[in-house]
Amino acid sequence: MTPIIRPDWWLPESAATDESIYRNRRDILKALGIGSLGAGLALSGGLPAGADTSDLYPVDRNPSYAATLNGRPMTSYEIATTYNNYYEFGTSKKVSANAQKLTTEPWPIEIGGLVNNPMMLDFEDLVRKMPLEERVYRLRCVEAWSMVVPWSGFPLRELVKMADPTSDAKYVRLTSFLRPDEARQQYRSRWPFPYVEGLELAEATNDLAFMVTGLYGEPLPKQNGAPMRLTVPWKYGFKHNKGITRIDFVAEKPTTFWMTAGPAEYGFFANVNPEVPHRRWSQATERDIGRRGQQMETQLYNGYAAQVASLYTGRDSGRDIFF
Ligand code: MTE
Repeated sequence: MTPIIRPDWWLPESAATDESIYRNRRDILKALGIGSLGAGLALSGGLPAGADTSDLYPVDRNPSYAATLNGRPMTSYEIATTYNNYYEFGTSKKVSANAQKLTTEPWPIEIGGLVNNPMMLDFEDLVRKMPLEERVYRLRCVEAWSMVVPWSGFPLRELVKMADPTSDAKYVRLTSFLRPDEARQQYRSRWPFPYVEGLELAEATNDLAFMVTGLYGEPLPKQNGAPMRLTVPWKYGFKHNKGITRIDFVAEKPTTFWMTAGPAEYGFFANVNPEVPHRRWSQATERDIGRRGQQMETQLYNGYAAQVASLYTGRDSGRDIFF
C-alpha cells in the first residue's frame, strides 16, 4: 500500500474543533428553509453580498487545507465578520456597517495587460466559470493578530490560465474599487486609493493563492471584501486585497498601496517571518482573535513553508522577501 504523505501544515479535519458546530448550524438553517441569505442576516447583522450567487454555496471543502495547528479552532463567523481591516471604510476594526454601502451588483471586472485574452466581465459571470471549493486557511495580519477561516473561492491560477499571459508578463497587479461616494474614506483620507497589491506570476500560480468569493459557506460579506478578495496565506494580511475590480498582468513590479503609503514599513513581498520584526513591534508571536487573543508563536511563512519556500530559493537570506 502506498503511504499517504501529508505536508506538515496538514491536520485532520477533526482538529478543526468547531467545524461540526458550523456545519450543524448550516444544516439546521437549511432544514428550516432559511438558507444562506437568512444565515448571513441573522448572524452577522449585515447583508451578505451577491445574493444572486448565493445558490453556489456551500461548496465542498478541499480536505488538503485543514489549517489548524495543535487543535487550533476556526475563528467564529461572528468574529471574522466584525473584526476587520478595510481602510476604504474606516481605520477602526468596526467597519462592517460602513462597508454595507458598497454596491456589489453589478460588479465589472477587467482582466488585461500582457495577456492573450483580455476581458471585461461581471463578477457573476466569472464566478460561475470557476471551480469553487472551500479551504480553511490561517490569516496572519502584520499587526500581530491572526485567525482561521473557511474561505470559498477558486485558485488564482485558474484565472491566470483563462487570461493566458504572454511571456513578457512577470507580475500580477490587483486593483480594488475606487468609489468615493460609497467609501467615504476615499474622499477624506490622504491614503493613495485605490488599494493595489501585486504578486510575482510564480506566486500567483502557486497552489495556495486563492481568490475568495465566500466565507463560512456563504457569499462573502462586504466587510470581508465582497464580491471577490485575494488570500495568500503565507503573506501578511495586507497583501489580501478586497473588492478587486481589475487584474493586470505586467512586466514591472507593481507599486502597491502600502509601498506608497508607508514605504519605510511595508515592502512588496511581505512573507510572514517571526524573525523579521516590524519596525515598531516583534513578529515572533501573534494573538489568535478567535481565542480571546491567546498568544501563539508565529511560524515561518505562516506555517506554509512546505508549499512556498521554493519560490524564494536563493534570495531568502536578507530582509527583502520578508518585508
Ligand atoms: N483590502 C482593501 N481593499 N483595503 C484594506 O484596507 N486591509 C487588508 C486586507 N485587505 C485592506 C484590504 C488587511 S491589513 C488585512 S489584515 C485583511 O484585509 C483583513 O481581512 P479581514 O477583514 O477579512 O480579516
